[in-house]
Amino acid sequence: MKIQENVSLQPYNTFGINVKARYFAEVTSIDELAWVLKQKSYPGKLILGGGSNMLLTADLDLLVILISLKGKEVVSRDDGHTVIKIMAGENWHDLVLWTLEHDLGGLENLSLIPGSVGSAPIQNIGAYGVELKDHFVSCEVMDIATQTQHTFSLEDCKFGYRDSYFKHEGKGRFVITSVTFRLTSQNHSLHKGYGTISTELEKAKVLHPTIQDISGAVIRIRQQKLPDPAILGNSGSFFKNPVVNTNTYEKLQLSYPNMPSYKVADDEIKIPAAWLIDTCGFKGMRRGDAGVHEHQALVLVNHGKATGAEILRLAQQIQETVKNTFGIAIVPEVNVL
Ligand code: EPU
Repeated sequence: MKIQENVSLQPYNTFGINVKARYFAEVTSIDELAWVLKQKSYPGKLILGGGSNMLLTADLDLLVILISLKGKEVVSRDDGHTVIKIMAGENWHDLVLWTLEHDLGGLENLSLIPGSVGSAPIQNIGAYGVELKDHFVSCEVMDIATQTQHTFSLEDCKFGYRDSYFKHEGKGRFVITSVTFRLTSQNHSLHKGYGTISTELEKAKVLHPTIQDISGAVIRIRQQKLPDPAILGNSGSFFKNPVVNTNTYEKLQLSYPNMPSYKVADDEIKIPAAWLIDTCGFKGMRRGDAGVHEHQALVLVNHGKATGAEILRLAQQIQETVKNTFGIAIVPEVNVL
């Protein structure tokens, strides 16, 4: 494996930001990963997966390690379930399609999410009523400092809404090398309750949907609302949906009776950040090449040559306006580097 110098990261981040890594290595095996992590003569190291949840704002004076570990394996089958182990460098959506080809159920609502399998547990990816944690068994990791391998269980990962151990105590300490899932091989339980999915299935005149039909519906919904990073640089939802207490919610509701909301716990109400941003008038707006997507106000986009700093400035302006208008702080879901 060769360590390259001054490599553009543009092909490796879905925002399409053109910054350089001082050093760059692509690892295709566990041995290569251990070797590169052991190298001491670099200013620091950054682990890169699918690059779909990051905003790069400056050149990185670091060794960037691209995880290209590949492989999909059936670990076991019992009546009704199949356990699969997937290497971290596999593309997430390719995995979903592979599970559907093998008629394995569970990941269909997570179709078309950009990124790699190894990055998926870090933010517990989720969409249309399903989260990665719902089908997660464990993941294998390598400790960056010691190059020892460990297995993290569902409990160890401390998954929450777009959150996990790897964003807190475990931050910067481990490389996820594989993820193991338990999927249904028969009697699939379908999650079609999420409003737009049932509407989409009705439109397609599907009365008895299969997991493949659900995936098809999710793909059509996402294609209508979310920009394809290959065409328009973006990182999916830029902010998390904020959670407020009942008191705050009730006060806001007096001024904004049409405000959408979802109860998540007794005194916790989630408000869509997209609605807050949209109501502040940002949807479709553009500052140079940095912009807010015209169909989903939660998605910031790079119309071509935006720098990460320009996108960050726009994000900060949105945060300030939302705070001044509603008194609610919205925080990025993407990692800003
Ligand atoms: N809305 C607006 N304006 C908009 C878009 C949406 O007012 O421009 C309102 C809608 O009316 C709706 C509400 O906001 O009532 C929620 O919108 P949507 O259903 O599109 O979902 P979201 O909360 O904006 C979340 C995830 C998405 C995921 C969808 C579907 C987060 C941060 N985002 O978005 O995940 O695909 O639900 O499950 O939780 C991602 O994480 O990158 C991502 C795309």
